[in-house]
Amino acid sequence: MAVKVVEPNDYRYKNGKTRSQAGKELLRKAEILDESLVAPGTYRVVYDGKEHTVRYDGSSWSCDCEDQRSRAKGGCKHIWAVYWAMAAGVIEPPEELPKKVKLSGGPKASAKAEVKTEGFVGPQKGQLLTALKLNKNALLKGPTGTGKTVLVREVAKELGYKLGYVAGSESLQDIDFLGAFVKKGDSIEWVDGKLTKAFRLAQKGRVILFIDEINRIPSKHLNILIGVMNPSGGKYTLYNHLTGETIEAPIENLRFIGAMNEGGAYQVHPLDPALMRRFESKIQFYYLPPELEAGLIVKRTGLSKEVAEKMVKVANLQREAVKRGEYDFPLDTASLLNWAEMVVKGGLSPEEAAACTWLYGLVGAEMDGTPNEEQVAGLKKLIETVF
Ligand SMILES: Nc1ncnc2c1ncn2[C@@H]1O[C@H](COP(=O)(O)OP(=O)(O)OP(=O)(O)O)[C@@H](O)[C@H]1O
Ligand SMILES: [Mg+2]
Repeated sequence: MAVKVVEPNDYRYKNGKTRSQAGKELLRKAEILDESLVAPGTYRVVYDGKEHTVRYDGSSWSCDCEDQRSRAKGGCKHIWAVYWAMAAGVIEPPEELPKKVKLSGGPKASAKAEVKTEGFVGPQKGQLLTALKLNKNALLKGPTGTGKTVLVREVAKELGYKLGYVAGSESLQDIDFLGAFVKKGDSIEWVDGKLTKAFRLAQKGRVILFIDEINRIPSKHLNILIGVMNPSGGKYTLYNHLTGETIEAPIENLRFIGAMNEGGAYQVHPLDPALMRRFESKIQFYYLPPELEAGLIVKRTGLSKEVAEKMVKVANLQREAVKRGEYDFPLDTASLLNWAEMVVKGGLSPEEAAACTWLYGLVGAEMDGTPNEEQVAGLKKLIETVF
């Protein structure tokens, strides 16, 4: 979607020019296509009829134009155009990056900006890579914090897919999925949702539409998905009943990946068997085996192997207790990483760090709103025994 020109904040440079003057000028001339939801931190800028790709990783910027490569005086106008658009709130910084754009100083061009990957560990990576290579759609199932989202990002990057992301929820709106008519000034314009965007991108290249928490999405949207995930003649077809438009995308260019948590603790709907069938590959996620989970903690946080192994032991004992019905939620890998980080960077003891990261997240509440005492005591005892 092209970004509309809005006035950036006013601010005066040393040479007397205001930010508005410089910024407005750029925004008037440049058309910015926000691809940050497709490939985090990526923006296409069309300026003077030429198209360039600007990347922002939360601290440094890069552009593929000559200006930036030669570090020409005044820097790169494509980067500045994106910067202005962010500063003015016209486009959002990429989702996983700091929301706040530093207004002082502006962007420093750097040729080294790279999107970081997090290094998924586990057999599911090979399974997903195989599914994608065979043009199969995949449904990732498993408890929270087992790396489903991280894996999809990583694999998309490795195989060169653009990535569209739908955050599934009960309140998913038309504009978040198919698209919707939106009032802009005096007119009403159609704005593509993620599904439509994915189809358009898939006409030109390979795209994964990642639908996270797919079993929380209202059936109205899932029915559209059931309709489009039914290819014929080598193509997927999206018929937009609101605009009358039909968009086709070659099967090999468009992959659908869904992710879901199952089990009584999650507030979710069972998935329609017709939709289930359309994901030809179902990939199950479990908590990592102890040695791999401890290794991940050591690698990510720098914690000693000995402490990491103890943390993993606590987690596995607690997960067993969940199965016996003593707790509602398991201690997941993501929480273990937070726990370890709090010990390494925060200098807290494992007991203190547990109390301010995961412990109170896993216990229920008494009638008066205080945490369930028995469960709190049980978890504290568990930590004490292991450490
Ligand atoms: N197998 C794994 N390999 C690498 N990192 C992992 C693994 N499991 C969990 N993590 C780490 O735990 C954190 C949470 O992972 P992620 O968000 O991908 O989980 P998820 O399965 O998508 O959870 P949810 O179901 O809540 O969305 C990330 O920091 C991720 O790097
Ligand atoms: Mg996830």
